Amino acid sequence: MSDSAGEAALSAAMKRIAPPGIRLGCRLIRDGDEALLLPEEASALPARQPAARRASGTARALARHLLMHDGIPDAVIGRSGTGAPLWPQGVVGSLAHDDQMAVAAIARTADVLSVGIDVEPAEPLPDEIAALVFNGGDGIGGIEAGLAARVLFSAKEAVYKAAHPLDGEILGYEHIRVDLARGQGITTTGHRMRLFFCVHPRVVVLAVAAGDQPNSILKAT
Ligand SMILES: CC(C)(COP(=O)(O)OP(=O)(O)OC[C@H]1O[C@@H](n2cnc3c(N)ncnc32)[C@H](O)[C@@H]1OP(=O)(O)O)[C@@H](O)C(=O)NCCC(=O)NCCS
Repeated sequence: MSDSAGEAALSAAMKRIAPPGIRLGCRLIRDGDEALLLPEEASALPARQPAARRASGTARALARHLLMHDGIPDAVIGRSGTGAPLWPQGVVGSLAHDDQMAVAAIARTADVLSVGIDVEPAEPLPDEIAALVFNGGDGIGGIEAGLAARVLFSAKEAVYKAAHPLDGEILGYEHIRVDLARGQGITTTGHRMRLFFCVHPRVVVLAVAAGDQPNSILKAT
């Protein structure tokens, strides 16, 4: 599959998993994408490898595009001291990138408490990393065997990205329990998340902490 066909296929897969009220998107990382960082964004990023700046530029341009479609033009997406993206008032969101693709999720604070997203190539996870990620309470039912550890890994990263901005706690894989068949994640710090994911053409997992937000969009899903 060509790069642009892969981008279109992932975009379609993400549209299918997106719960109401949450905008998801993907964008191929292209040469020169570091130039998409706004000056305020570029200065908020620590000194990094060019590839990391490029991926951050792709992800921020994508998120800006999603926000524009949500009626928020020209957003600046900063970065907190702990690395979490900073969103305009009334918005929560999350970014991720692998070597080739950036993804983003945004939602309104009236609808959800927090979101986290992750993207991974649809390839088996090395055994030594899989051993770190799995713990006894995790459920991987329904996922093709070769990719289950990869999806679990991605789910825990997504849960972490949704949880960390809520309380600043640094969590390891052992602090997050995931049930892929039920689409649920829970942290030892008490955050419950709904999980939405696709496996092909790339693994993308969205974690949503609904809280008791007034519109509570996840009650309907
Ligand atoms: C957050 C973290 C998991 C990101 O993982 P990664 O594989 O490096 O990178 P990803 O492409 O998946 O995501 C990168 C994006 O995550 C976001 N991010 C970084 N730190 C974050 C945090 N503390 N909270 C929420 N989002 C965060 C940023 O938007 C970043 O993109 P940017 O640098 O372009 O702004 C990692 O940086 C981290 O902080 N790990 C420590 C805790 C941990 O690994 N625990 C085990 C997993 S549960």
